[in-house]
Amino acid sequence: MSLWIINGNVWNETSGNLESKHIRIENGLIEAVIDGTQTPDTGSAEVIDAQGKLVSPGFIDMHVHLRDPGFEYKEDIATGTRSAAKGGFTTIACMPNTRPVTDTAETVRYIKSKAEQVGVVKVLPYASITKNELGRELTDFASLKEAGAIGFTDDGVGVQNAQMMKNAMALAHSMDMPIIAHCEDDTLVEGAWASEGEFSRKHGLKGIPNESEAIHVGRDVLLAEATGVHYHVCHVSTEQSVRLIRLAKQIGVRVTAEVCPHHLLLSDEDIPGLDDANWKMNPPLRTPRDVQAVIEALEDGTIDMVVTDHAPHSAEEKARSVQLAPFGIVGFETAFPLLYTKFVQTGKWTLGFLLQRMTADPARVFRLPTGRLEQGAPADITIVDLANERAVDPSTFASKSNNTPFGGWKLSGWPVTTIVDGAIVWSE
Ligand code: DOR
Ligand code: ZN
Ligand code: ZN
Repeated sequence: MSLWIINGNVWNETSGNLESKHIRIENGLIEAVIDGTQTPDTGSAEVIDAQGKLVSPGFIDMHVHLRDPGFEYKEDIATGTRSAAKGGFTTIACMPNTRPVTDTAETVRYIKSKAEQVGVVKVLPYASITKNELGRELTDFASLKEAGAIGFTDDGVGVQNAQMMKNAMALAHSMDMPIIAHCEDDTLVEGAWASEGEFSRKHGLKGIPNESEAIHVGRDVLLAEATGVHYHVCHVSTEQSVRLIRLAKQIGVRVTAEVCPHHLLLSDEDIPGLDDANWKMNPPLRTPRDVQAVIEALEDGTIDMVVTDHAPHSAEEKARSVQLAPFGIVGFETAFPLLYTKFVQTGKWTLGFLLQRMTADPARVFRLPTGRLEQGAPADITIVDLANERAVDPSTFASKSNNTPFGGWKLSGWPVTTIVDGAIVWSE
C-alpha cells in the first residue's frame, strides 16, 4: 500500500521556513521526503495533492478524556478519536477517571482493544495512581504497565497524601514509568469553582487560590528529586507553579509540564457571567498575570507541550447552574486553529515553534516514535489549511459533546486531512 503527499509545505527548522516537499509513504511508514522541485514518481500509488497546505507531523495530545468506559453519553472511544482526528491529532493519551476508574489491567486492556477496533487514532491509556482515584491505596503498577498503561495519574483530583505520592513515585521510578499529576490541594479549594481574581470578587464568589495548584507542584518536585522519577505536571495554570517548575528544571529534577490552549488564551476576566458553564474548568481560568506567565513558560521551555484536556460533558450537565455543572471543556477541534490564529498569525510565535510543542516535544518527553516527518518514522501526518478562515461552530463537532467557550471565534488553521500509519482516517 503506497501513498504520496505531493506539493505540501513542510516546516524546515534550519531555514525557519515552509518548504515544498513530496512525501512517500509505504506500509505505514514514511519512506522518503523529497524536495518539491523534484518530480515524484507516483506510479500507481494513491496521491494527495497538498498544494498550498501545511504538512505536519500528526499532533500529539498527552491529556484527554475519552469517557469510555462508563460515561459514553459524554464521549466514547469511537467519537473521541474521530474528534481528535478532525482536530489533526494522531496520538492521544487518555485519562483514567472513567467508570470503573482505569485501575485494573482488565480496564486498560478494554481501552486498548476497543481503540484498536473502533478508534481511528493511536490511543495511549494512563492508569490511576490510587484505586478508584480515592487516594487511599496504590494500584498494582506492575500489572497495569504490563497491560499497556503508559503512566500513572489520578487526573481529575490531586493525590492529597504526600507519603502516598512519594510511594507512587518510588514505585513508578523502579519500573521506569512516569507520574502525571493533577495538582490541587483540596483543603484550599472547598467548593469554589472560579479563580480568586476580578471575576470572583465582582460576583462575591469564594475563589480558588493559585496556591491550591502550586503547593502540589512544590511538594511533588521535592518528592521527584528525592525519588528520581519522571514527574509530569498537568495543565499548569499559575505563575507560582511556573516559578517552581522553572527552578526544579534548573537544578536538574526530572520534571516536565503541559499547558492547555484555554489557559494560554483566556483569563477569569473574560468569563461573561454566571450562566454559562462552558467557562468552568479545572484548573479554572486564572488572572491575566497568570496567562502571561504560562505563555512565557511555554516559550522558554519551562512548559514542554500543549495538551487539550479535552473534557466532554453533555449539554444537560453543562446547562445546570454553574455551581452544579461539571468542570471541563472539549478541546480537540479548536486547539490548533486557536493557537495558530492567536499566536502565529499575530507574529508572536513561529509556526515551527507551535508545531514543535504539539508534536516533537510531547514525543520527546513521553518517548514516542512519532512527532517527526522523517524517513522510517510512522506515517502519522496532518494536513492543514492555514489560509481559510472559519468561525467555530460547536454543532459541527465530531465529539458527542460541544461544551466550549470558543463558539463563534473566527479562526484559521483548520486541519483538512489526518493520516495514521499511512491510512487516511479523517478528511474534510
Ligand atoms: O476541567 C476538568 N475536567 N478538569 C479535570 O481535572 C477533570 C476533567 C474532567 O474529567 O471532566
Ligand atoms: Zn486535571
Ligand atoms: Zn484532565
